[in-house]
Amino acid sequence: MQTSSIHGMWSSRLAFILAATGSAVGLGNIWRFPYITSENGGGAFVLIYLLCILAVGLPVMFSEILIGRRGRMSPINSIRELSDDAGATRAWMGLGVIGVIAGFLILSFYSVVAGWTLHYGFLYAKELVGAGAPITDPGETFGSLLGNAGELTFWHGLFMIMTVGVVAFGVEKGLERAVSILMPILFVLLLILLGYSMNTGYFQEAVSFLFKPDFSQVSGPMIVTAMGQAFFTLSLGMCAIMTYGAYLPSDVNIPRVGVTIALADTAVALVAGLAIFPIVLAFIVAPNPELTGIPAGGPGLIFESLPLAFSTMPFGILFGMLFFLLLSVAAWTSSISLMEPATAYLVESTNLSRKASALVVAGLAWTLGLASVFSFNIWSEVTIGGKDIMSAIEFVAADIMLPIGGLLTALFAGWVLSRKITREELDQKMPDWAFQSWLWLTRIVTPALIVVVMASILGFF
Ligand code: PFF
Repeated sequence: MQTSSIHGMWSSRLAFILAATGSAVGLGNIWRFPYITSENGGGAFVLIYLLCILAVGLPVMFSEILIGRRGRMSPINSIRELSDDAGATRAWMGLGVIGVIAGFLILSFYSVVAGWTLHYGFLYAKELVGAGAPITDPGETFGSLLGNAGELTFWHGLFMIMTVGVVAFGVEKGLERAVSILMPILFVLLLILLGYSMNTGYFQEAVSFLFKPDFSQVSGPMIVTAMGQAFFTLSLGMCAIMTYGAYLPSDVNIPRVGVTIALADTAVALVAGLAIFPIVLAFIVAPNPELTGIPAGGPGLIFESLPLAFSTMPFGILFGMLFFLLLSVAAWTSSISLMEPATAYLVESTNLSRKASALVVAGLAWTLGLASVFSFNIWSEVTIGGKDIMSAIEFVAADIMLPIGGLLTALFAGWVLSRKITREELDQKMPDWAFQSWLWLTRIVTPALIVVVMASILGFF
């Protein structure tokens, strides 16, 4: 059994929790969760999403961390070693390959959206020092950004450079230090925004929207989206957490850190929803009597609604700048984990150095990201299966590939690895009932749930 990785190790349990929480908490919580909740009618969607976190997310989270820590290499190579040891077919490496491909697809559009947040942070910074015009019409500001391919490409490129800058120089010092300072600040800012939202007069309605399920809204596609979001927000299904698990010291208790990460991530998503929906109700729904409820906001939701609040609240400009800069940071700590699995693989399997490997991965993902950039302007007419290019990439990667990756991860941990190994990794002192619960969830329940949900995409339900 390897006790360390050639790529380096987290210095402590806390460092891993911060890094993995940094990976989990990102655009998925503050940008994607509110907008897809608005598209899926609120409460029933949130409830199914929370069930998916519990019944599918947690077992897969434990599985990823333990596979990574046992293998101590990049996912593809860890899975090869562990399959060989178990006498299983090397075809399981396909799981690592799906992970790397999903990682490229997600990183490509993630960096474009993170570029929007950088742009907004910059707009507010300029306004703060008196060098820029105020955002008076957020819809117009957002629309003109999306229409400008050159500007989008620039911010997408800048964000990719920031990501490669950390990954190329190793994650430990830069990343550990950055996440431990910046994540708490993001959380405090969200809480301040929440405080503001509570005073808009629409907080109760937002709570009902988020937590009162209207089961008439439930549909196959909605459940697929909820499950995809559970994987996306916890960074599961593409071996990112597995990669981080490879750098986890042997004495850390996996169930405990796994639950901590999932709780922190879920709390941030719910707080983001509670902070954002009262603002949408106050500034978008209330002034438009023809709206009967929260409209489906689409990917522009936070970029169009929050600036409305920032333009009237005290210190709104300062606050807008901090919010978008910190959202960029949250996206940054996530994108690092999107780039790490493929980079670690190239370091292990080619003669390339870490710097060169990271540059190759970033270059490919940046190029692929141009498709998302163009989907808002020069290719805005192009649709794939009724979706624009970016939404199609987002759907295939997050809602299809991540659950398939999660399914294979659960089956691998549950059936290929011996009970001796999984027990040793999870927690030697774990009571037997707890271990058996994880084992049977991972072997049967979680895979069955994923298969049923995926079958609905193929039109079986
Ligand atoms: N969990 C991140 C978010 O919620 O923004 C996105 C993400 C990161 C997905 C890393 C997948 C991943 F491997």
